[in-house]
Amino acid sequence: MKGIVFVKFNEFIEEVWGDEFWDELLSEANLASEGVYTTVATYDDEELFTLVGLVVVKKGISAKDAQFAFGKWVFKELYNLAPPGAHDFKDVFEFLHAVQDFIHVEVKKLNPDALLPEFEFLSETPNVLTFKYLSPRKLCYFCEGIIHGLAEHTGQDIKVSQPECEHEAGEQCVIEVEKV
Ligand code: HEM
Repeated sequence: MKGIVFVKFNEFIEEVWGDEFWDELLSEANLASEGVYTTVATYDDEELFTLVGLVVVKKGISAKDAQFAFGKWVFKELYNLAPPGAHDFKDVFEFLHAVQDFIHVEVKKLNPDALLPEFEFLSETPNVLTFKYLSPRKLCYFCEGIIHGLAEHTGQDIKVSQPECEHEAGEQCVIEVEKV
């Protein structure tokens, strides 16, 4: 994954649990990069999974909650990096379409080595949007968190659920976003 994700994960951990906790994670994780992350480089996905795994053990939270919390926190950071035109969308559903049709496309053009999920939209009513989250990285809980961060940004109340999830014996991840 791109260094930006690691740099932001570092900031997230330090903001929530402090600099010493980040140092503690690095001293136990034994990472090839030694945790000296820069936004321009790319790092092995496994490093992120190792760090999340250590947070889970040390803080007694589930991997799901850890990924979700990071996703919710990181939305505003991604938003600040978003390509011109991405700031015009005021609605969660419109924004989610824009991520698939335009925002992640632009991100990929600027960073050809970025690894991004695909969203396959399945159905949409005025209040409920359903899509498949497709990614070999299986970060659907991170994705749920980002969607909550997005809704906080647009000022909309939403519920996010997964009628089917690869982590819950499903064949794929289907994310349902409901405006409440
Ligand atoms: C605000 C504008 C956004 C920008 C600029 C952006 C950009 C990015 C970048 C740079 C990455 C890392 C790629 C890599 O490490 O190789 C990423 C990953 C990801 N993005 Fe976005 N993103 C945005 C919005 C969203 C939204 C709203 C969602 C949720 C629906 C989302 C879902 C994800 C997920 C789940 C990943 C992790 C990779 C994966 O699942 O395979 N992004 N995005």
